[in-house]
This record gives sequence, structure tokens and C-alpha cells, in this order.
Amino acid sequence: MPDHFAEGSTTALVSTIAESPSATHTIWKERSLFLFNFLKNPLRNASIIPSSKEASREILSGLDWDKINTVVELGPGNGTFTSEIIARSNPGTKIVLIELEESYVNLLQNKFGNRIIAIHDGADRMNEILKELNLSHADLIVSSLPFLQKEISQKIFTAIQQQTNRGAIYRFFTYMPPVMKWFYQGMPLHKVKFVMKNIPPMWIYGIN
Ligand SMILES: C[S@@+](CC[C@H](N)C(=O)[O-])C[C@H]1O[C@@H](n2cnc3c(N)ncnc32)[C@H](O)[C@@H]1O
Repeated sequence: MPDHFAEGSTTALVSTIAESPSATHTIWKERSLFLFNFLKNPLRNASIIPSSKEASREILSGLDWDKINTVVELGPGNGTFTSEIIARSNPGTKIVLIELEESYVNLLQNKFGNRIIAIHDGADRMNEILKELNLSHADLIVSSLPFLQKEISQKIFTAIQQQTNRGAIYRFFTYMPPVMKWFYQGMPLHKVKFVMKNIPPMWIYGIN
């Protein structure tokens, strides 16, 4: 790994974000971290800037929050969708975030405190993680996982399918529907929305 991507510099960036004095400052620091993580691992981060506010509103639209007791977010990044999940969910709803990039896990923990459970792990372990947390199932899974990396394995799709088969609502987005459909062959997807106000524009899909 090149020196400028060393772990120490990421840690320094995260602690500066946590101590940032103003909201604008925080936004720009988080965007810098996002860009930094993209440069460090483009296939894993998959985007140069976080999703838009509009995208987070649309991906969570049309849900009955009174029926959602456990939310799992896969690949929360700097927490754009997480903020909206917290705003919409009931105070007792468990919010489990599973994120592979450690600098985001630290950031999410600083940002949302004990309102969330942030787990530094791969999404393919979702069902094991739920068990470890004594949670029987997920009611809603929100995913931002990119498809073009080796960690996105059949195990993730199997784990998601096990949850959707027992009724979990699944929402995710893609910038490339034809590529995405190849990965989701045989799964009962429906299109939720096309979001123009995002860089790049995205398509939101769902199951249930
Ligand atoms: C396109 S970013 C989305 C970030 C954020 N949710 C947003 O929409 O702005 C993808 C995120 O997925 C995470 N990620 C990629 N592969 C993962 C995996 N196998 N398990 C958990 N997180 C993963 C990346 O670290 C990154 O935070």
C-alpha cells in the first residue's frame, strides 16, 4: 500500500472529522475520507462521493416503520442512509451496520454513538452476526454493496435470500442495472425508483 494511504493517515482523518467544529467542515472532511477510500480501494468503495440526501429518502420510501424492529445496513460508508434510517425508525428499532472498511466503522461509531451497532466485518457474515447479537432475523436490509469485487460472493446473496424468504424487505441501489441483474438472476426484484439527483444517477431495486 502506498505511504499516503497508510492506516495512520486514515485514523488521523477520522479523528479530525469527529472533532470538526462546523457542519460544513464535517461534510467536506467526510467527503475527503470517502474519496480517499475510493482511491485506496476503488472496487470496494465503488463511488467517489457519498449518496445524496434524495437517494437516502427514496431508498427508504414506502416502508411501514412500525413493522420494522431490526434494520441491517450493508456497506453504510459514512452513514448517509444511516442518518435517514435513524430519523425514520422507531426509537427501539435495532440498527446493525456491517462495514468492511475500518475507518468508516470508527466514523459511524463517533457519529451515531449507541443508536447503532457498528460491526467491522464482511456482509457475507450477516446471518452469523445477527445470531451473535441474539437477533432472530432482519425486517429490513438496506445495501450499498458494489458488485465488482471478489468479496461480493454467492454467500451474500444466499444470506440475503434467507432473510427475504422469511419476509425481510430488501432495498439496494445500482448504477448499472444490466450488470446488477446478472448477479441477481432468479431473485424476485422489483424496481422502486430511478434517482436522478445523485452522482451518478442510480436505480433503486427491492425484494418484498
Ligand atoms: C458505494 S459505497 C456506499 C456508501 C454509502 N452507503 C453511500 O451510499 O454513500 C459502498 C460501501 O460498501 C462497503 N463494502 C464493500 N464491500 C463490502 C462487504 N463485503 N461487506 C461490507 N461492506 C462492504 C464499502 O467499504 C463502502 O463503504
